[in-house]
Amino acid sequence: MTSAPVDPTTTTAWQTLTELYADFTPDLRGWFASDPNRARSLTFGAADLRVDLSKNLLTPEIARTLIQLGEQVGLPERIEAMFSGERINVTENRSVLHTALRLPRDASLEVEGHDVVPDVHAELDKVYAFADKVRSGEWKGVTGRRIETVVNIGIGGSDLGPVMVYEALKPFGQLGLECRFISNIDPTDVAEKTFGLDPETTLFIVASKTFTTLETLTNARLAKAWLLDSLRASNAIGHHDDAAARAVASHFVAVSTALDKVADFGIDPNNAFGFWDWVGGRYSVDSAIGASIAVFIGPERFAEFLSGFHAMDEHFRTTPIQKNVPALMGLLNVWYVNFCKARTHAVLPYAQYLHRFPAYLQQLTMESNGKSVRWDGTPVTTETGEVFWGEPGTNGQHAFYQLIHQGTQLIPADFIAVVNPARPLRDGDADVHELFLANFFAQTKALAFGKTAEEVRAEGTAEAIVPARVFGGNRPTTSIMAPELSPSVLGQLIALYEHITFTQGIVWGIDSFDQWGVELGKQLAKEITPAVGGDSDALAEQDPSTRALIEYYLEYRV
Ligand code: F6P
Repeated sequence: MTSAPVDPTTTTAWQTLTELYADFTPDLRGWFASDPNRARSLTFGAADLRVDLSKNLLTPEIARTLIQLGEQVGLPERIEAMFSGERINVTENRSVLHTALRLPRDASLEVEGHDVVPDVHAELDKVYAFADKVRSGEWKGVTGRRIETVVNIGIGGSDLGPVMVYEALKPFGQLGLECRFISNIDPTDVAEKTFGLDPETTLFIVASKTFTTLETLTNARLAKAWLLDSLRASNAIGHHDDAAARAVASHFVAVSTALDKVADFGIDPNNAFGFWDWVGGRYSVDSAIGASIAVFIGPERFAEFLSGFHAMDEHFRTTPIQKNVPALMGLLNVWYVNFCKARTHAVLPYAQYLHRFPAYLQQLTMESNGKSVRWDGTPVTTETGEVFWGEPGTNGQHAFYQLIHQGTQLIPADFIAVVNPARPLRDGDADVHELFLANFFAQTKALAFGKTAEEVRAEGTAEAIVPARVFGGNRPTTSIMAPELSPSVLGQLIALYEHITFTQGIVWGIDSFDQWGVELGKQLAKEITPAVGGDSDALAEQDPSTRALIEYYLEYRV
């Protein structure tokens, strides 16, 4: 039995934070001027990441009190409970052990009398052997040709992680291998992603933790039909059932916790990779769900990716809150959400390869912490779950940064950059990555320190437009830097945000590992499907708005 959540609003730390906020006047210019050590004392290391928190709206007293808040809600004990396999996913009665997926081979973790590490490595070894076969050409399609395209079919955690990592680690991929990702049940997704593919050299990975997800199973059936129809159309295979079975066996593998359902679908269980119910979908890219990535970058690089996660796990588990980067970032987010009333949080990677990272984080953070009840079923006692969003810089600068700089909302932002780009280029004398990084440094500086009316006037600006050109500053940012975007650094970044999310969930007392909020829409979609097909009884059961919308569809469909 996991212990009851502590109501954070009853702690003395919360009381102090409330008082501190009542008298709070952010003054990053003043704070930096009066404390020459501010940057140094608020910059921390975590594995290969260097994290500068100094441009946040934080005084030493606020920082100290946030740390006390972490202690008073039992964060260190909850961290230990997660890592040791306690069933902290209360509403699903499960352990939460994504951290076990990246334990080294010689580690051991007894959970309820069973060491899970050998299981994890046995499954990883299967994935690695499969990856090696595809990469070497030993794995052949039904007509004897090697695989050139791997298509992952999955959605949510069975898609967002693999897509994001594929995009981020493109420089490490094997030449001649491409991955595509089908997720949406909008039929245009399958149509577009199979367009131009050669079925003889295409391998599908059907990735679904439950193997019940409507989108994924529908798309898998569509992909199977596409494969068989195209192979038959070119006479690559005949029309017999055994030819179809051989084609499916050579062109389909699956990843799931429900291997019985994989077999029902017609995929050979020998071509299926498993994982465990203690891995949440949005925490699963480091399990066999990452099989497409293991194929693309190879087992060695995939192992480096896992070691990056593990390095951040160790940091989170063993570092006191005072220097614990995920804990500090999570507590800072609590300060912004609950005291400064921030409603959103931007993540702005200055690394084009990380262009899907904000989308990935949306599921991680919002499916985890978008909750109104606590893990004991009682209502939350304060706001939870800010909206995470973002796009890579510098693109965002030319789109939405206006609002971050001069809008009326407070939007804490994480800026992420790497020192060495995977593809350095020069433009004449200029190192283009330096131009890029200059923007990274400039933006956080502008957001923190702004530009006063006097400074605007001193530039000769006409008085009438001085107010429009003033930058208030005091817009909080965290700067995260790493030497390069290696597989390990990417693993560290993902684990960093997993643990930030966990920290916030603990303060708010919520189960960050269930996702009941996705169920009602799924259930209603099933019920509404006959109405959309024109069933008048089903249509009559709908509320007036929904009925009118479906009638519009029925009137205009061709
Ligand atoms: O509907 C939400 C969800 O359950 C996510 O949590 C999950 O990542 C996604 O659907 C896909 O689920 P599965 O991997 O079981 O197909």
